[in-house]
Amino acid sequence: MPTPDFYTRKLAEGRAVLAPMAGFTDAPFRRLCRRFGSAWAVTEMVSARALVLGEGRGVQIGAPYEGEPDLVIQVFGGEPEIVAAGGRILYDRYAPAALDLNMGCPVKKVTGKSCGSKLMLEPQRAADIVRQLGAAVPVPVSAKLRLGYERINVLEVALALQEAGAALLTVHGRTAAQKYGGEADWDAISEVAAQLTIPVVGSGDVTTRAQFGARHARGLGVMIGRGALGRPWVFAECRGEQISVGEKLALVLEHARLTRAWYGSDHAIVKFRGQLLRYAAEIPELRALRAAFQQVTTLSELEQLITASPGSQTPGAENLKPENQTDLPTTDLDTVAFDHAPR
Ligand SMILES: Cc1cc2nc3c(=O)[nH]c(=O)nc-3n(C[C@H](O)[C@H](O)[C@H](O)COP(=O)(O)O)c2cc1C
Repeated sequence: MPTPDFYTRKLAEGRAVLAPMAGFTDAPFRRLCRRFGSAWAVTEMVSARALVLGEGRGVQIGAPYEGEPDLVIQVFGGEPEIVAAGGRILYDRYAPAALDLNMGCPVKKVTGKSCGSKLMLEPQRAADIVRQLGAAVPVPVSAKLRLGYERINVLEVALALQEAGAALLTVHGRTAAQKYGGEADWDAISEVAAQLTIPVVGSGDVTTRAQFGARHARGLGVMIGRGALGRPWVFAECRGEQISVGEKLALVLEHARLTRAWYGSDHAIVKFRGQLLRYAAEIPELRALRAAFQQVTTLSELEQLITASPGSQTPGAENLKPENQTDLPTTDLDTVAFDHAPR
């Protein structure tokens, strides 16, 4: 019997998947979500054109943390040759388990160039991208779609991508015109899945174990995006595990330390304020620190704030001490170990 491909193997584990989110799913956040049980994690989207032009940021966005397993890198682009060349650069550099094509981004800066959700209007172009990307790398290629651009046409697009060799499709249950408004339509996602032979992962509005279970029972993979912001432990909750307040506080600090180490300066802590506010919204013991979080500028200030917070004496909080936390990765991308074996 042939070995099942990466996605089939991972889906069989029956776990939720961290959705790609620009500005959030960087290496430190992926690391934490994977530890809590996300089946795999997708990077922020990387511009294929920037990769081909040799602009450094794309390479950095796709970079795995040391030893990152099951890395899926998401690319965006509108020209098949460029996406294929960009995908090959990512493969040569990072040997990801799979590459994913962004077909859902509704932001003008991206859609203006026949990229992101604009590809929903051009199924043949999208299929051509998947075909050429698939020919350029020895790993599975997937795509992440919306229900349509303005009009729902996801089935037509999905069939074209399946024909072009996509190994898996993720469908966010909204059109691009809806952006993030209204409710994600999981019936529409199930209807597409019923017409395909490749697996489908649904995306949209899953934040609890009960919602995860109900979606998973439809035979779909389940992605969690915003429901993991400020609460990466949602993946453990989906598996029936509870995380204590002390553990949550230790996690916030670990996230900050990983972020500081990954980007290599305290400026990363200033950018991390948005994440801190999300944690403060989810952890009552941090609520009183909201104003302080908006001013914090260094890791050591943040360490002082959190170690003095009301939950810091509770079980699990002993991991607030840096020596009890995981090894912190460095920002030096050249030290990342690359394994070029096709998976
Ligand atoms: C801040 C933010 C950034 C996002 N960035 C991406 C992206 O880079 N690529 C992508 O395919 N989807 C992106 N999405 C869409 C999510 O992956 C997901 O499909 C959507 O948020 C619906 O799922 P949710 O309700 O679980 O968040 C983004 C969503 C948010 C909120």
